[in-house]
Amino acid sequence: MERKHFLTLGAGLTVGGLIGKSALNGENISGAKTKISDYKFDPEKPFPISPDGDVNHPEHDSPYWDFIRTLFPLKSDLTFLNNGTMGITPYPVLEALNKSFHFIAENGAYPMHDGSFEENLGQLLGCKGSELAITKNVSEGVNLACRAINLKKGDEVIITLHEHVGGCTAWLYRAKTEGIVLKLASLGATAEETLKNIKAVKTKNTKVIAVPHIPCTIGQVLPVNEICAWAKANGIISAIDGAHPLGMLQMNLKEMGCDYYSGCFHKWLLGPIGTGFFYASEEILSRSAIHHVAAYSVDKFDMSTTPPSMGELVNKTARYSYGTFPGPMYDGAKAAMQFYQKIGPALIEKRVKYLSKEVMNGLMEINDNPTLKFPVIDPSRSQNGVDNSSNNSLPVAWKMHHSQGPVIEVLTPAEDASRGAQVGFRIHEHPSKIASSNAQVTKEGAPIAIKAMSQSLVPGTSTPQASQRFCDFARKNNVILRYVAENNIHCVRVSTHYYNNKKDINRFFDVLQLFLKEEGWM
Ligand SMILES: Cc1ncc(COP(=O)(O)O)c(C=O)c1O
Repeated sequence: MERKHFLTLGAGLTVGGLIGKSALNGENISGAKTKISDYKFDPEKPFPISPDGDVNHPEHDSPYWDFIRTLFPLKSDLTFLNNGTMGITPYPVLEALNKSFHFIAENGAYPMHDGSFEENLGQLLGCKGSELAITKNVSEGVNLACRAINLKKGDEVIITLHEHVGGCTAWLYRAKTEGIVLKLASLGATAEETLKNIKAVKTKNTKVIAVPHIPCTIGQVLPVNEICAWAKANGIISAIDGAHPLGMLQMNLKEMGCDYYSGCFHKWLLGPIGTGFFYASEEILSRSAIHHVAAYSVDKFDMSTTPPSMGELVNKTARYSYGTFPGPMYDGAKAAMQFYQKIGPALIEKRVKYLSKEVMNGLMEINDNPTLKFPVIDPSRSQNGVDNSSNNSLPVAWKMHHSQGPVIEVLTPAEDASRGAQVGFRIHEHPSKIASSNAQVTKEGAPIAIKAMSQSLVPGTSTPQASQRFCDFARKNNVILRYVAENNIHCVRVSTHYYNNKKDINRFFDVLQLFLKEEGWM
């Protein structure tokens, strides 16, 4: 993407009318003619177009990526930059689901859970199929890991300040009901710093480290291999929340060395919604508690013996998934794995990191935009500078590493090892908003919401309100982002998957530019 695009894009756009006529009208971006009706996905056969022409820059927009985009039903007038919440299902996955549900309905066929799905998944994750169980989502896997570990009152678990509700509630519940102690580590600006922060909260009572591989907040990639190696060396059990990496980054759980790992197919792998997996290593399985058992958990049962009898727990992680196998959903997940492998994990990782870097660079450029206006309201604020002293009044979660600028602060580290396919950033509150809100708040009878807002408006810093207003504004303009309110982090999260393209990124910046104009920044 050309540099300084922020200055040049968006001319002539009007609020609310941004997308409308300028949409792609159902055509793919650079005029590639392949239509889904002409093409049937076959994992055994090559795509009708290859990225060969782009071997040196496979991450760039090209007829190949335009073709790939045609395999997604996503509306062309929608700029979907929220894959971190839920992936867009491509046609091959929808077709596999449809076919499988139909097959069962037509033949009265019962979906057998024969372990082949776990075998395929094991190849993708770098572990044995016998170390995997299917779940319906990440939260289920996190709960299985949390309950598999014997802990007593006072035992400590390291988590982060950036947890998703699905990643931490199981631990919070045990803290509340059983008295285990949660120790919070903050994320660093680099992988090294993050590791240091984690090590700093360890005590002699630390029994578990339960951190996300990639937190939902700012998409930072944690140095999980180093974390798990350190945990192992210190007799600490590692339970990783892996909601995001599968389908985004190449993975190898054995190299990672974690004890437990919980992931899903419905985010970056673009599989059916409500499909997930749980990994418990061979070594940890025999020491893992299990609370729910049924078919597939045990090798036999017999109610006709006296007393009624049961055999042994099966010697594989699949003991955690029981009952009727949702076969069609996992046929869909299998198609998602095949689709991912067909495009290529290495190529995908390269492309998503490239696209998110474009977003990060564009955000950083905004701060250099000479057309930005800085009305001097607070004398402590300089023309271009930031009143960092005011940061002292912010909650702890706000004091993160970031690339701070007069309008935008980028929270996701720029370091390559700590970046994936997501960027978190905040928008500063324009000083005039602070002035007008302060004026209102001094009026008798000002609404409580305005009073609350005024209290959090600190000149020269970003506010929850500005980032949230932007996400609402973007949605009205058909750009879907995630507002991250969790843990007082309050930022905008931009997710870019391989089906996104330069046009999507340009639309995002167009909308941001319009918003900043409305806010009085330009
Ligand atoms: C880091 C993280 N952990 C856990 C979850 C919960 O995932 P699920 O909804 O699949 O249970 C999410 C969902 O966004 C997440 O981002």
